[in-house]
Amino acid sequence: MSKPTVFVTRIIPEKALQMVREHGAATVWEGELPPSRDDLLRAVAGADGLLCLLTDPVDADVIDAAPRLRVISQMAVGYDNIDLPAATRRRIPVGHTPGVLTDTTADFAFALLMAAARRISEAERFARAGRWKTWGPTLLMGQDVYGATLGIVGMGRIGQAVARRARGFEMRVLYADPSEPEAARELGAVRVDLDDLLAQADFVSLHVPLTAATERLIDARALARMKPTAILVNTARGPVVDRAALYDALVSGQIAYAALDVTDPEPIAPDDPLLSLDNCLIVPHIASSSVATRTRMAVMAAENLIAGLKGDRLPHCANPQVYG
Ligand code: DGY
Repeated sequence: MSKPTVFVTRIIPEKALQMVREHGAATVWEGELPPSRDDLLRAVAGADGLLCLLTDPVDADVIDAAPRLRVISQMAVGYDNIDLPAATRRRIPVGHTPGVLTDTTADFAFALLMAAARRISEAERFARAGRWKTWGPTLLMGQDVYGATLGIVGMGRIGQAVARRARGFEMRVLYADPSEPEAARELGAVRVDLDDLLAQADFVSLHVPLTAATERLIDARALARMKPTAILVNTARGPVVDRAALYDALVSGQIAYAALDVTDPEPIAPDDPLLSLDNCLIVPHIASSSVATRTRMAVMAAENLIAGLKGDRLPHCANPQVYG
């Protein structure tokens, strides 16, 4: 029997590619950049399975262009690039990779928080530019992390993992979330409404998925509630923050600093004004990028894909309603 046809939208870690190739006749997009829309539409036309990334807009047209498609497997925990209702209407299960990247992402959120608090990227630029002439009593003074108040917006898996790290720094942890997870109580985190969190936190770290309700959650009004010394960390999704409002808030001193792993759009344009600011640290969406975690994500995506090709229930399915 011939193998099902699979399209993989980028080169992923080899271990996972081997798994995919064992079970499917795989075409792998080898470009450094994602396939264009036309390339994607063409590639899915005969595909039984699609293994995609968050950079691939898998909208209703792409799904419609794939009459044989039986499974969509995303190598990421977030899947806001996929039209889930359209996939569900076609009864196509959508896989994703929850859990495996929680701690790696939380480590990175904390790394950004600390780098912003202690102005590490500015200090590194300063040293490399040959500007380090002597020990300076007021040189590059930053803010203390230990004992400060951390506000976590979105107390899911990653938010909780950030709260665990904050305990080691003796931080007071507030969180805003529609639910009140038991784990948050055990960690001593206190649930408050978003406005109170923004007003009290020295650090605000975002851990919500991108949905209609969270798009531009951090807008001019929200930024105006924050302390002038506050630091905003975003490892969630770029559009959760209104980028023009953030620029204004950073320039006017309404908040002190932002550290962004994610931007709107991605990649950020080289002439985006945010890139000109010393008090804005920007890195290219790498919070989950450790060798072990990216390999685990890819393997999990391959497992979801293979299950879908076999007609089995996906181990990690974003739309379980397809199973009735
Ligand atoms: C995800 O998985 O959604 C992250 O943003 C990429 O690691």
